[in-house]
Amino acid sequence: MKSAFAVVFALFVQFQNVFCEYGSYRSYTFTRPIDLSFGIDDNTVHWDSSQKVSTSRSEIYLPDSTYKSFNKVCFPEHSGTHLDAPSYVTKNGRRVADIPIDSLIVSGIHVDVTNEVHGEPKFVLDEHHLRRWTETYGKIESKSVLLINFGWANRYWNRSAYMGYNENSRNFPGISIPAARWIVENPNIVGVGVDTPSVDVGHSNTFDVHRILTGANVYLLENVALNNTYLPARGFQLVVMPMKLTHGTGAPTRIIASPYCIGGAGLAKVSKFAIFVMFVASLLKAHVR
Ligand SMILES: *[C@@H]1O[C@H](CO)[C@@H](O)[C@H](O)[C@H]1NC(C)=O
Ligand SMILES: *[C@@H]1O[C@H](CO)[C@@H](O)[C@H](O)[C@H]1NC(C)=O
Repeated sequence: MKSAFAVVFALFVQFQNVFCEYGSYRSYTFTRPIDLSFGIDDNTVHWDSSQKVSTSRSEIYLPDSTYKSFNKVCFPEHSGTHLDAPSYVTKNGRRVADIPIDSLIVSGIHVDVTNEVHGEPKFVLDEHHLRRWTETYGKIESKSVLLINFGWANRYWNRSAYMGYNENSRNFPGISIPAARWIVENPNIVGVGVDTPSVDVGHSNTFDVHRILTGANVYLLENVALNNTYLPARGFQLVVMPMKLTHGTGAPTRIIASPYCIGGAGLAKVSKFAIFVMFVASLLKAHVR
């Protein structure tokens, strides 16, 4: 009897792996990890012209024909795909290296408003867009980073189109103050990413959304390469890897999205429960004897 149960259990565990693969391939539109970061080089987007990335390259040919090359790269913390730490706008706020690791490996939430933005730089993401997302896809119950896709990332390498320059002001979509307040009301949201140069609307001078979000220890990700249409609304993991600058107010960041297996995670719980039941059953049996 006991061995029959063990066989069934072993089959179940095997089946779970198959199911997991099948589930992830079936339900999700992407199956391999995706890079959500732009590469860093001298064309990297910077907020203003005093913040350019510069690279100088050295090459050495030694007499024994060994070769060595290395670059010296000078960059502002907030260049390219990067993270804003709370210390950026809050004195004594968390610095990049203070952000807990468990806030950097989290669930990804993709709020795609590309079809509503239609390339309009005046678009503002409001609370109702976020509420609609949760009505459609469910509550945000695990530690998550919210990625807002304005359909802006395609412009990234064209600085004037990306910044939306117009009589010296910047024009691109952003997050509204009520939406920022909605976000900080959910303690599971540990970060917010956008595919624009800033979470605040382009013409903002006060950076209220920066303050509201980082004031609640929510970190920000800007210039995120979200022009990857394979990203589903949820059901994927994010690995957010800011360069570990000890005193950083921000840092260039590699962001990887990888699909995970919801079915598999559920089944893993079931199998853990099954192990527990077996354990209790064996204890009871021993006791009865
Ligand atoms: C996203 O946009 C950037 C900037 O234009 C471009 O270099 C890149 O190839 C695009 N990525 C995809 C997957 O379309
Ligand atoms: C960049 O975008 C601007 C519009 O904002 C456009 O006038 C210009 O032609 C674009 N440049 C390139 C190289 O596509």
